[in-house]
Amino acid sequence: MKTQVCIIGGGPSGLMLSQLLHLKGIDTIVLEKHSREYVLSRIRAGVLEHGFAELMREAQCGERMDAEGEIHEGFFISHDGVLDRVDLEKYSGGSSVVVYGQTELTRDLYDARDKMNGAVIHNAEDVKPHDLTSDKPYVTYRDGDEVIRIDCDYVIGADGFHGVSRKSIPRDVLTEYEKVYPFGWLGVLSRTKPVSPELIYAKHERGFALCSLRSQVLSRYYIQVPLSDSVEDWSDDDFWAELKRRLPQEVADRMETGPSIEKSIAPLRSFVAEPMRYGNLFMAGDAAHIVPPTGARGLNSAASDIYYLYHAMVAHYKDGDDSGLENYSAKALARVWKAQRFSWWMTTLLHTFPDSIPYDQKLQQTDLEYLFSSEKALGSLAENYVGLPF
Ligand code: APR
Ligand code: PHB
Repeated sequence: MKTQVCIIGGGPSGLMLSQLLHLKGIDTIVLEKHSREYVLSRIRAGVLEHGFAELMREAQCGERMDAEGEIHEGFFISHDGVLDRVDLEKYSGGSSVVVYGQTELTRDLYDARDKMNGAVIHNAEDVKPHDLTSDKPYVTYRDGDEVIRIDCDYVIGADGFHGVSRKSIPRDVLTEYEKVYPFGWLGVLSRTKPVSPELIYAKHERGFALCSLRSQVLSRYYIQVPLSDSVEDWSDDDFWAELKRRLPQEVADRMETGPSIEKSIAPLRSFVAEPMRYGNLFMAGDAAHIVPPTGARGLNSAASDIYYLYHAMVAHYKDGDDSGLENYSAKALARVWKAQRFSWWMTTLLHTFPDSIPYDQKLQQTDLEYLFSSEKALGSLAENYVGLPF
């Protein structure tokens, strides 16, 4: 087979790029390791920054997001028994975020690819990129006993943190930066009315908690847990009791509880691999960088990679201009590191660290007091949360 751009990974990054390029007449093939049902069964975060929502519209996939997603102009931080609101709209100069599940968004991207007869190959086994530093790279995968070869101009590594593309870059070329946090988030999805129309990020000495939602009848809650905990350690009753302990009384009192539909633990990790280009391989999204979920930057830092790659590819194919491709890694990494900084800051501000000394705790308290006493500090939080410009 032959294509212009071979995309490894059919998550939001790969699908979005494929859709955008197709609309500009650039041919792509997406190779996805898993079945569509599997990809769509993964529960992920649900806050889209303004720029990502715009990209969905540009990709002609924004209809359901605009009809069913909720625009949020603020969120709460609870601490010391009180709720303080961050007015995103006011402090970001009129911007907001869209609350729309990543699973739904991925479904919309698949539907859009189907409508355009986009080539998305599922259950592609042993995907391997080859000859990445030549001008004739190719990708192979296995379908049963048959090995299939795809010749292409460029390979996109959009295959997530555990994918094959980053591993195809020689170790002496790549520098990896990593920070592992000593806790995880236990998440529960439940068919209950959300306790608050806007998200609540809760700082509490027993540990962080988050009240989020997917719709007005579907809630998503998280609590910070030690890495040694497993899902089996947490019955639904124990989860609700612990969540309530970490929230102001009046919030806990109005919390509607119910059976969990999904329950999982995600460790918190920050990771960046540099550079994001090796020869004719370009990495995007989780393949190159991940953030802890505090601050909801995961999908949003993938969005800027896709935006830069999309424009770079269009400039290459339509105008013969390669400057976007040449600058891709440096440009993408500059924004990636800002998302890393923000996610680290929000994580540090709101979590309980097992090894923190009284001095650290005083600083954490002061950081929070400063935030709510300074319009400039709130402005910085707001501009990062709604998304820095691409
Ligand atoms: N070959 C082909 N596909 C692969 C391979 C492989 N060797 N390894 C992984 N994949 C697929 C995965 O099955 C997955 O569907 O690549 C896809 C990568 O998707 P994501 O992990 O969702 O990564 P990305 O598209 O960059 O999306 C970033 O997802 O994890 C969240 O917080 C993250 O919100 C962010 C978003
Ligand atoms: C979620 O709804 O799953 C969610 C929302 C905000 C976050 C993280 C996760 O910061």
